[in-house]
Amino acid sequence: MARPKISLIGAGQIGGVQAQLVAQRKLADVVLFDVVEGVPQGKALDINHALAGFQSESLVTGTNDYRDIADSDVVIVTAGVPRKPGMSRDDLLETNLGIIRQVAEGVKANCPEAVVIVLSNPLDVMVLAMKKLTGFPKQRVFGQAGVLDSARFRFFVAEALGVSVRDVVAMVLGGHGDTMVPLPRYCSVNGIPLRSLLSDDEIAAIVKRVQGAGGEVVGLLKTGSAFVSPAEASIEMADAVLLDRKRVLPCAAYLEGEYGASGIYMGVPALLGAGGVERIFELELEKDEQAQMQASIEHVEKLVSGIEL
Ligand code: LAC
Repeated sequence: MARPKISLIGAGQIGGVQAQLVAQRKLADVVLFDVVEGVPQGKALDINHALAGFQSESLVTGTNDYRDIADSDVVIVTAGVPRKPGMSRDDLLETNLGIIRQVAEGVKANCPEAVVIVLSNPLDVMVLAMKKLTGFPKQRVFGQAGVLDSARFRFFVAEALGVSVRDVVAMVLGGHGDTMVPLPRYCSVNGIPLRSLLSDDEIAAIVKRVQGAGGEVVGLLKTGSAFVSPAEASIEMADAVLLDRKRVLPCAAYLEGEYGASGIYMGVPALLGAGGVERIFELELEKDEQAQMQASIEHVEKLVSGIEL
């Protein structure tokens, strides 16, 4: 039996780390695609030279030819430009939509059965574009955002309490932007409610930092956005699909009535397995949480209404 195959569309900062993580975890063979000549080939060769050290057989192939992504089990899309300091993710819409159009064409033509995970920003719009342009079923096209945003939440809580990040459970819903909805009520340290461990003010400060965390990294790097944490989050999702793990993770999933939204993608808790998003969980939200979710839905609806697909 052949090893599974993951294709990474975009050999930028995130794509390079994704390829490395897949190889280190021996999860699959990798095709690293980019339109820029040399970069995917160079990054692939560099990672292959580390396979002996990783004790891994996961081969990485760099390419500029979409035909090489044929028969992929999972495709992860990071193609697009990142933010510069002071920019919102929404400012990238026009440029990245043009890029996503080409990617969708390449994916549809070459691996029509693949599960597609989108990271390109503004995420909630790019993943909708990918679904519409490929015509793939909603279960097989979803976005990475909640796993990263929740990981950031978990880190800040762990740091504040001096506990292992592994024991912090957290959930971030909504769009992957300034309107994201971290849910402290659903956050615990191995079952111990966050609200019994930190004051309301401390929790509010963490929530604010989670919402701005991507921008905080952009502001520090000045030349691009976060790449290790988005790569890690997306490979965790690919792993859930390839190994049919039935993980329950926040994903940007296509809503048809859930949370009062229809025809858009939103971050919601989802069951991830071999079929992609196999189920969406609807949490009972309190009034203020529902209001935040509604604001996030309206923000994404407005962005989506401005584009032609
Ligand atoms: C972030 C970008 C990648 O949140 O969306 O860092």
